Amino acid sequence: MPETKKLSLEPYKGTRDFYPKDQFIQNYIFGVWRKVAERFGYLEYNASILEETDLYRAKSGEEIVSEQTYSFTDRGGRDVTIRPEMTPTVARMVAQKRKELSFPLRWFSIPNLFRYERPQRGRLREHWQLNCDIFGVDSIEADVEIISLAYEIMKGFGAKDENFVIKLNNRRALNRLFSEMGLDEEKQKTFRRLLDKKGKIPDFDEQAKAILGKPFNANLEPDKETSELMQKLTKLGITNVVFEPFLVRGFDYYTGTVFEMYDTNPVNPRALFGGGRYDDLVGIFGVEKVSGIGFGWGDVTTRDFLETYNLLPEYQPPVKLYICHLENYLEAANQLASDLRKQGVNVAVDLTSRKVSQQVKTADKENIPFVLVVGEEEAKSGKFKLKNLKLGKEVVVNQENIISSLQIS
Ligand code: HAM
Repeated sequence: MPETKKLSLEPYKGTRDFYPKDQFIQNYIFGVWRKVAERFGYLEYNASILEETDLYRAKSGEEIVSEQTYSFTDRGGRDVTIRPEMTPTVARMVAQKRKELSFPLRWFSIPNLFRYERPQRGRLREHWQLNCDIFGVDSIEADVEIISLAYEIMKGFGAKDENFVIKLNNRRALNRLFSEMGLDEEKQKTFRRLLDKKGKIPDFDEQAKAILGKPFNANLEPDKETSELMQKLTKLGITNVVFEPFLVRGFDYYTGTVFEMYDTNPVNPRALFGGGRYDDLVGIFGVEKVSGIGFGWGDVTTRDFLETYNLLPEYQPPVKLYICHLENYLEAANQLASDLRKQGVNVAVDLTSRKVSQQVKTADKENIPFVLVVGEEEAKSGKFKLKNLKLGKEVVVNQENIISSLQIS
């Protein structure tokens, strides 16, 4: 017989399976994101994971398109890419409907994104990313709002100011500096990309010298816009913000403010969120310009952060009550479950014919807070022993009092 290759049990490299306990955490993270974004008046949108590759060629930046995308040719000969980020998609959507949309536009989405990267802590090949963006506000007020929104999300997760720092810079100021240094547009691009890697590569100084023809030493102070932004944020009580003269951000489309947020604990060296202003992106579709600013916030680094600071909620399944049964009482158990479900309670019935003690064990293992057993006595009397598995306490209740007795503490 030919030898068959054993199928792997692992998910595809750099992706994750979400078992219910992981999905619980994922839902928690998405829940905080969604709640705070909606509190700020942002509306949810979505799109397909597939886009024509040209969309990313236009403005994302070379590295992401040539090295990090999952791209293929479809059966109709189209060049297709699985989205590595959401910004080009949202810019396309805004450009398409700009005449019907009312500005300022505040939108959010939680897409999964795919990047062909070397998997490591905080970086995978598939991640989910909260995207919050404002379109149609040219003034600094949008920059202030978008950073306040991100800050409030951190507060929503229970983070303290000293746990994280928001780093700010401005692309316009960087470009001014590059012009003063006498760099032409091509060299600016090359040098910007190198600057983006400062601190991550060992030979920055040599590479910088190769591009500039002399050593790079700039004495940088915050530009007017960044200073104003910092002042406005301070007024709102957001003080864990610093000017970071070498913060560049990898994408070519940024035009003004750029920012990233970092955990202050060095175990998590990757940014939790990053974003900036991109006033020319909608315009690349050949329509009039609409300014934009926003951020992307990853679930991977967020989970690491929450674990580091013990901020994850305790796991609780949505199932409130597990109904066990003695022999011949499965039907009665199902009937009771059906009645309770009609009243909105999440109930599961043990469908096996195992001993009751084993059925209860299953509920306990699954962290289901309540159990009751249906047998002859219960069926006759209509009274049930409802057990709180956490407290080990039991109460005897009539069927109509079951729901009101499902209080965890
Ligand atoms: P980005 O800096 O590439 O920006 O990603 C934003 C955040 O997504 C990162 O700070 C990180 O938390 C997470 N992230 C990115 N790549 C990965 C990965 N391979 N694995 C895990 N997490 C990752 C953007 O994508 C911009 N489009 C954001 C934006 C929105 N700018 C304006 N609006």
